[in-house]
Amino acid sequence: MSNVFKDGDDIHEYLASHEQKDMLRFLTCGSVDDGKSTLIGRLLHDAQSIFDDQLETLGSDSKKFGTQGGEIDFALLVDGLAAEREQGITIDVAYRFFSTDKRKFIVADTPGHEQYTRNMATGASTADVAIILIDARQGVLPQTRRHSFICSLLGIRHVVVAINKMDIVDFSEAKFRAIEEDYREFAKQLDFESITCMPLSALKGDNILTKSSNTPWYDGAALLPWLETVDVTRKDERPFRMPVQWVNRPNLDFRGFAGTVVSGRVEPGDEVVILPSGKRTKVKAIVARDGDLAFADKNRAVTLTLEDEVDASRGDVIAAATAPAEQAGQLQAKIIWMDDEEMLPGRQYILKSNNKMIPAQITDLKHRIDVNTLEHLSGKTLKLNEIGECNLSLTQRLVFDPYTENRSMGSFILIDRLTNSTVGVGMIDYALRRSKNVHWQALEVNKESRQKILGQKSCMLWFTGLSGSGKSTVANLVEKRLHDLGRLTYVMDGDNVRHGLNRDLGFTDADRVENIRRVGEAGKLMVDAGVITLVSFISPFETERQSVRERMDDGEFIEVFISTPLEVAEQRDVKGLYAKARKGEIKNFTGIDSPYEEPTNPEITVDTSEVAAEKAAEMIVEYLDQKGYLG
Ligand code: ADX
Repeated sequence: MSNVFKDGDDIHEYLASHEQKDMLRFLTCGSVDDGKSTLIGRLLHDAQSIFDDQLETLGSDSKKFGTQGGEIDFALLVDGLAAEREQGITIDVAYRFFSTDKRKFIVADTPGHEQYTRNMATGASTADVAIILIDARQGVLPQTRRHSFICSLLGIRHVVVAINKMDIVDFSEAKFRAIEEDYREFAKQLDFESITCMPLSALKGDNILTKSSNTPWYDGAALLPWLETVDVTRKDERPFRMPVQWVNRPNLDFRGFAGTVVSGRVEPGDEVVILPSGKRTKVKAIVARDGDLAFADKNRAVTLTLEDEVDASRGDVIAAATAPAEQAGQLQAKIIWMDDEEMLPGRQYILKSNNKMIPAQITDLKHRIDVNTLEHLSGKTLKLNEIGECNLSLTQRLVFDPYTENRSMGSFILIDRLTNSTVGVGMIDYALRRSKNVHWQALEVNKESRQKILGQKSCMLWFTGLSGSGKSTVANLVEKRLHDLGRLTYVMDGDNVRHGLNRDLGFTDADRVENIRRVGEAGKLMVDAGVITLVSFISPFETERQSVRERMDDGEFIEVFISTPLEVAEQRDVKGLYAKARKGEIKNFTGIDSPYEEPTNPEITVDTSEVAAEKAAEMIVEYLDQKGYLG
């Protein structure tokens, strides 16, 4: 009998009550054909030790358990990536529970199909051990390599290579040894601390619970006794880390910092440092629901009070002063993409790590990694289930440890700004050196002083709309009027900028994102120079327009939506491009086979099929005048 948690079950409560007991989390990798279900079934059955008692402790809510496979919200068990749960992503991972008198076990079971990298990664992110199934008749397959690589990537350090169906190959030692040798050769590229190969028959029960007489030549342990005794504690003691979840300040006399210890251990009197501020102090007390604690270690939710009045807010990290975490705004990380929509370098996503949300861009996809061969592949984007090594640029510094040193402190998720869904998970490799060496240079002549000389308030008029909607026509007229009024202006037009600065970009989603990112940055410099800047680009994606808006100061970004309908723009077809697009001669044409996302909150909307361009220009200049931009 097994127990499967279903969506909505209170696993946190369960885990909390058992956290102090010895618990092994493992992951099974393989397909039904390899005998995975049989193996799990047999382990659960042979272990014969269901949580009747735990069922009791969990209380009267009997609906909490099912007795057969089902789906749960995967992240209930995933500490490192717990944020995903809040973002609601459906991942196909079933967690099963069983115990023996020596240990409790959580088994993460993920579908073995090629397309399920993200499921496997999710299951692997908190597992201590992976059981990698190999059919003795088949030997090491591409999927074996894929599973092993993902396990290694997600920080699993101990693997059991379960060479199954030995009964079908007459318990041949030669077959077993050949597969073992093959596997060990391949695994040299991976980062495992221990590899244990076992000859099994899940169906017949050989070497599952006890050693089998059919494999007298095998001198290792049977699977379950091995799982009961394997030591997965990491050799190096991890330094103390507690990301602050919230500040508990019920009255003026008490200020506590609440959070969960993600690594190490803390005691009253320990010297700690608050990051990113770097303020040092000592722990005064560790407050828990039932009184002060003498210490707190990993996974414990506590409130710390500190000796000194120091400031810390949600997302800050309290760390051992002797071994503080790093902080950086530029990182290299491995990213597993989890969304149907591809990852677009240059697009701004929200990076969430340890209660902290920071807007971030993937500045460079260095390469993709073929999960079957570990080969590096070139590529501009990541599609669903693809893994890449990326450089990221964050708008603030992140407090972190490399993933290989600390899975909680080194992992993050990426969230789409518009849909709010989790689109990727990342494992941080290290901070990029440039992040430490490039500083902001404070200059004495600034935007305000330049604006003063020019007698105007610089801003960015951002014209967005379909090709042929009239953006450039209106922008041109606005500039002429402003020029006549003696204002310093500049128009950046999509077609023109694509002849120079953005000459290397085409019309894929990824290139358009980069197109807008660059023109946004260039436009920001113009505004900084004091110029009234008119940007006229299709800029079809809301996320990118939003990102530019947020890079500007309040009131500096004025979105002008040229809302002329597609039919009208197509009928005008000034450049003959719509006709070509309809004939299929131009691909990814906006409005035809590439999307245009209308602005949700533009400052100004103009439909040039209803309002003459001259009139529209007059309205826009009037807007600027009324709002005080013209001095
Ligand atoms: S954007 O989508 O990346 O903002 P941008 O404004 O720079 O586009 O360039 C659009 C101009 O490029 C159009 O006005 C049109 O003249 C030309 N063009 C060529 N191919 C395409 C295409 N596939 N989609 C849209 N515009 C195209």
